[in-house]
Amino acid sequence: MSKRKILVTSALPYANGSIHLGHLVEYIQTDIWVRFLKMQGHEVHYVCADDTHGTPIMLRAEKEGMTPEALIARVHSEHFNDFKGFHVHFDNFHTTHSTETRQFSEDIYTKLKSAGFIVMRDIEQLYDPVKNMFLPDRFVKGECPKCEAKDQYGDSCEACGAAYAPTDLKNPYSAVSGAVPVKKSSEHFFFSLSDTRCVEFLRRWTREADHLQPEAANKMHEWLGDADENKLSDWDISRDAPYFGFEIPDAPGKYFYVWLDAPIGYMGSFKNLCDKSQLDFDAFWKKDSTTELYHFIGKDILYFHALFWPAMLEHAGYRTPTKIFSHGFLTVNGEKMSKSRGTFITATSFLEQGLNPEWLRYYYAAKLNASMEDIDLNLDDFTMRVNSDLVGKYVNIASRCSGFITKRFDGKLVDGDEYHQLQQMVDDRFSSWRPTAIEKAYEDRDFSVAVRAIMKYADEANEMIHELAPWEIAKDTSRDKELQRVCSLGIQLFYILSCYLKPILPETVKQIESFLNCEPLAWPTLTEAQPVSSLLLPAGHAINSYKHLMTRIDAKKIEALVTANRRTLTATTTAKPVNNAAATIESIAETIGIDDFTKVDLRIAKIVNAEHVDGAKKLLKLTLDIGSEQRTVFAGIKAAYDPEQLKGRVTVMVANLAPRQMKFGMSEGMVLAASNSDAGSGLYILSPDDGALPGMRVK
Ligand code: 2FM
Ligand code: ZN
Repeated sequence: MSKRKILVTSALPYANGSIHLGHLVEYIQTDIWVRFLKMQGHEVHYVCADDTHGTPIMLRAEKEGMTPEALIARVHSEHFNDFKGFHVHFDNFHTTHSTETRQFSEDIYTKLKSAGFIVMRDIEQLYDPVKNMFLPDRFVKGECPKCEAKDQYGDSCEACGAAYAPTDLKNPYSAVSGAVPVKKSSEHFFFSLSDTRCVEFLRRWTREADHLQPEAANKMHEWLGDADENKLSDWDISRDAPYFGFEIPDAPGKYFYVWLDAPIGYMGSFKNLCDKSQLDFDAFWKKDSTTELYHFIGKDILYFHALFWPAMLEHAGYRTPTKIFSHGFLTVNGEKMSKSRGTFITATSFLEQGLNPEWLRYYYAAKLNASMEDIDLNLDDFTMRVNSDLVGKYVNIASRCSGFITKRFDGKLVDGDEYHQLQQMVDDRFSSWRPTAIEKAYEDRDFSVAVRAIMKYADEANEMIHELAPWEIAKDTSRDKELQRVCSLGIQLFYILSCYLKPILPETVKQIESFLNCEPLAWPTLTEAQPVSSLLLPAGHAINSYKHLMTRIDAKKIEALVTANRRTLTATTTAKPVNNAAATIESIAETIGIDDFTKVDLRIAKIVNAEHVDGAKKLLKLTLDIGSEQRTVFAGIKAAYDPEQLKGRVTVMVANLAPRQMKFGMSEGMVLAASNSDAGSGLYILSPDDGALPGMRVK
């Protein structure tokens, strides 16, 4: 097989959020594919980067009181650890906020401009007069023009599904400052996608060489329209200051829109790798390159990758992608991931709960194919499948056969005549175990087909072991040779299965390589004339003693994972309307500095006792444990809580409030509770997240 030169990318994650199990579908899918190609000996480079620009990142940094550079550096290291934790091995994980990405963005833009693809136009947008900034659609909120639902975003209504322009919203307000936005005009730069050169190129590109999956090609036909139409609109590639991104050359105060430089980040990350590892960048990106370029993406960003990206590359004089592979979304237990149900599961929490990332890699592989269909992570099925396939079928083969080899034969697999008999058995009974079908399934990203075939083989190996029952043979010492042969056969079959599973289970297979005392497993190859037995470890090969390879999933751990990710209240990151008679928030106290705030000693408190107070209409008497001592507090929460409900709960108290002598006794602090000023709206004491202990400082 000739050695291919391949560059592979996964979509660049935004630097303003955590990696979650939905993201991981794509990274695991790509990583499996890349590992398979690397095992085959091809030259493969897998690059990614954080997608760091844009208004949300700028505003989030401001909110967290840091520079965008500091925020993206922190998130970069979080993302890096998450990917490493799931064994997603990028050859380079860079950032779009890099000199390389800046250079290529400027280069592509300049080339497009000289070729006449950049046009300027005045457009009118909503502007926040308090923050002095134009508002992206998602940062304008108001009432849906169709169903009048409140607090809807500027692009679409979550209540009725209507799509509209932000200027259509009723009573709009800026989600940044709360101010009523005004319309303001400014000059924007557009990439002229509607230019016939683009349209013709994209029609040709869609037709040629299977660049896209059939479903994606259909989408392209829909977007491009029939041969006699031109349905494409020019693409707005600039944003006005303030913006976190790259300033456009010779256009002060104008920045490249984040989606312009995001895919260029693929080139930037690869250039950064080339400079570190003496690779030839041009060999992969010049126009007539014979290398292969693949982008794995989610179906939601097909438009950017299949229209804008190839058109930009083509007209700036670079090569275009070999193929774009889109996948569907992840559902959990058949539904959209949800924070309130606890199914919006972060990568970090999965690892922190002590779950094995290879369980998820395996489950995703078992579900993935080359289509754009959504995949479902059913948590019960996940537990059952991993326990039955990986532990019950696969690992079990090694654990059943290795003990005898170690104890009775000093770790040695059979040689001589016995080895020939073993080869014969393999060729008689396991002749279907050739790598070809699995290889094709991996290459075609039909991982579910590969997994099904591998597990069928594992079943066959287990049936053989069950039939020959080495534990029975072991009882008769005169049958030692037979025992060694049967157990060697089990180990040899386990070795072949491990080769096939290595792209999915890289860490487990690394341990297996040391158990089997062999070189890193490469992809097995057979010529047509060679029998399956040519794949086996050599006669007389010595293995090391077996160490436990994988535990079963404990269903309780999955429950704990869901609990850890459950949020009953989603923190709101946007402002509420002001200057809007219907929805004004009155300030309840004057602005304070941090020094004023830190004067309040807030502590985690456990309610060890709660009781009614004779004669008190509103008060309950609480005994609070704050670690070093216990406090008595009279709290006005009788209308909202039954004392029995409160015992054992953990809450937050003001610990340095001067003691107050009340009619019923001394109150030594205050418990925090939320309520509206209007009577009857309820009263809610605060609860910290699980893990907070009595006495901990709240700040
Ligand atoms: O949709 C997203 O999460 C984007 N950050 C993906 C960018 S992919 C590439 F174009 F950079
Ligand atoms: Zn609506």
